Amino acid sequence: MATTTEMRPGLHHVGVRDWSRRQFDALISIPHGTSYNAYLIQGNNKTALVDTVAPGFEGELARKVERIMGIGDIDYVVMNHAEPDHAGAIPWILKRNGRARLLTTRKGARMAARFHNVPEDRIDIVTEDTTIELGRRTLRFIDAPFLHWPETMFTYLVEDRVLFPCDFFGAHTAFGLYADEVEDTIYHAKRYFGEIMMPFRPMANRALTKVKGLDVELIAPGHGPVYRDCSAILDAYTRWCTGQTRNKATVIYVSMWQSTERMINTLVDVLQRCGVEVALYNLASSDIGDVAAELVDSRAMVMGTPVVLGGMHPLTMYAAYLLKALRPPVKYAVILSSYGWAGGALKQAAEMLAPLKLEVVGTVETSGPPTEEDMKKVEDAAGTLAEKMKGQGSAV
Ligand code: FEO
Repeated sequence: MATTTEMRPGLHHVGVRDWSRRQFDALISIPHGTSYNAYLIQGNNKTALVDTVAPGFEGELARKVERIMGIGDIDYVVMNHAEPDHAGAIPWILKRNGRARLLTTRKGARMAARFHNVPEDRIDIVTEDTTIELGRRTLRFIDAPFLHWPETMFTYLVEDRVLFPCDFFGAHTAFGLYADEVEDTIYHAKRYFGEIMMPFRPMANRALTKVKGLDVELIAPGHGPVYRDCSAILDAYTRWCTGQTRNKATVIYVSMWQSTERMINTLVDVLQRCGVEVALYNLASSDIGDVAAELVDSRAMVMGTPVVLGGMHPLTMYAAYLLKALRPPVKYAVILSSYGWAGGALKQAAEMLAPLKLEVVGTVETSGPPTEEDMKKVEDAAGTLAEKMKGQGSAV
């Protein structure tokens, strides 16, 4: 049965939970599913629906709205973001409601037309100067582009001090309405930040500054639980957006016959003895989403790869490609490699990671099982890395 949740009098969560979804963008693993949050705001005179749901969930959204009012009674549909997981039900709503206005940014208007076939004469473009009076309640809008598409904005419900930031502050989990009901919300938010927002940290930081200039009591994102105590997520976003790092190394590797693994284990042992926090992932059995989460606040990374088929192992190549795109605030790196009869992976890995402008403080390449001399080089590289990492807190 469709259920609604009234978060404040006349402010309803009418979104849906996608409990069984396990992948996003054919790329991101979402082990706890996700939610597509939509919010119905009733003023004394007008009603606004903030964001909608993914295609396929229109019926569930409609049942939730219709427990409160008719679809035809909605006056405004706010599109904070054009991606189909939030805007996919807009055509369905506008077809059943011939008078509702779509509110979005100028870029959003173009995307609403292109992605969702919304006629131009149904769209009102909003800016930071726009106010929409609902009667006793007022909507304002915050320009927040490239989080993570070019058209993104936030909506602010002035009198209630509620922020609707869509993907920003989001988390892929279907659990809980409120963040304080879910034990691991901040971890899911961190993972989401690593996967979606980290490549856009400068824009995220600008948007966060705007949010801090508002009086916000409730943060109601497009995915995951709602924050009724906003301090923890705002503190976390402050660290993540500004690239504050811990004395932590994320270590990712693949090993076929344990040569690379033995070097990695030696390196990890030295790092830990030097007081470095280590997050270790064998890519053959790891979820790359966990790696993305670790990279949000790692000061260093270590990559270990064997040579296979004439180059880096495909799993480390994939990880390096993603790393380059995710732009973590990592400052230092060590690269280790082993090969049977011809090397080359070390150079290839360094070239792939070059756009990140990391300082590669050590490399070791071994033919076959590492010798004592190779292990000494690994220990030296680990020691140099640990020394470099001391006291280097921020990547801003
Ligand atoms: Fe949740 Fe960018 O859509």
